[in-house]
Amino acid sequence: MNKGMDLISIHELSADDVEEILTLAAELKAKQKAGIPHPLLAGKTLGMIFEKSSTRTRVSFEVGMYQLGGQALFLSSRDLQLGRGEPIKDTARVLSRYLDGIMIRTYGHDRIEELARWADVPVINALSDLLHPCQALTDLLTIREYKGKNLAGLKMAYVGDGNNMTHSLMYAAAKVGMHFAAATPEGYAPNAAVVANAKADAAASGATVTITTDPKEAVQGADVIVTDTWASMGQEDEHDARIACFRPYQVNRELVAASGEACCIVMHCLPAYRGEEITEEIFENFADVIFDEAENRLHVQKAIMALVMGD
Ligand code: CP
Ligand code: NVA
Repeated sequence: MNKGMDLISIHELSADDVEEILTLAAELKAKQKAGIPHPLLAGKTLGMIFEKSSTRTRVSFEVGMYQLGGQALFLSSRDLQLGRGEPIKDTARVLSRYLDGIMIRTYGHDRIEELARWADVPVINALSDLLHPCQALTDLLTIREYKGKNLAGLKMAYVGDGNNMTHSLMYAAAKVGMHFAAATPEGYAPNAAVVANAKADAAASGATVTITTDPKEAVQGADVIVTDTWASMGQEDEHDARIACFRPYQVNRELVAASGEACCIVMHCLPAYRGEEITEEIFENFADVIFDEAENRLHVQKAIMALVMGD
């Protein structure tokens, strides 16, 4: 990855960019565990704009900057003039005069694209309604830790809502040659343009992308099953209606067994809603994987920041 690059969508990265991020993330993880200092961003400041809630993203970016020798500023849109109507393009140009990088979590994906268009410093997408690239790259690192470095030819199955996680996982898998299958209820399929882009990436990497409404078909032969909340941030009002229609898409003992793979692992980006998209039993059976996945946000985001904000 080049210094100064934005990280908005995995679709815009090359396979080499993804490899570089994952390799550096593993290296920084090892250094941090061994207590070896790695101040790659000494004296640098990241601004973190949050228009939605967060536990993992906020803490891992903030701690990550600290471990890299820099600092991070938590900028809630409730407190910024942005929240009172100051245009994104003005916010971008002002913040570029103070900061070395901007991370943003927001609703409309176009807000991130607008910020990146006007900012002179790298912009990192920390979740939009459309994409969550930092989480999907993290998931690749975690799968490597459990399944070995070569991800090509493995199969990832996503079961649940066709949302920002589905889209970024589809892009991530297609980029590294992992087969990807998503099972979503009718009316909740992934974005058609994202599926088309992912299919093009998959054709280049030798992978396949399959979209179905049948969860058992999707998980068949899967090395990894992934799920996410049935009602994302901003969809709270739809929660009850969604529960009724998503029931057959719960990741439970029967669905995991339907993979037919004894070593199939289950992942979840968190927060998890037990009894909805995943059972308590399956969540706890795979808690080691799921909390490694949460930890890896720190290491992957440190690698991304070091690559795009470093000297
Ligand atoms: N997985 C994830 O992005 O978590 P937060 O919403 O807590 O940041
Ligand atoms: N799809 C979820 C992911 C949370 C990390 C949401 O957007 O709320």
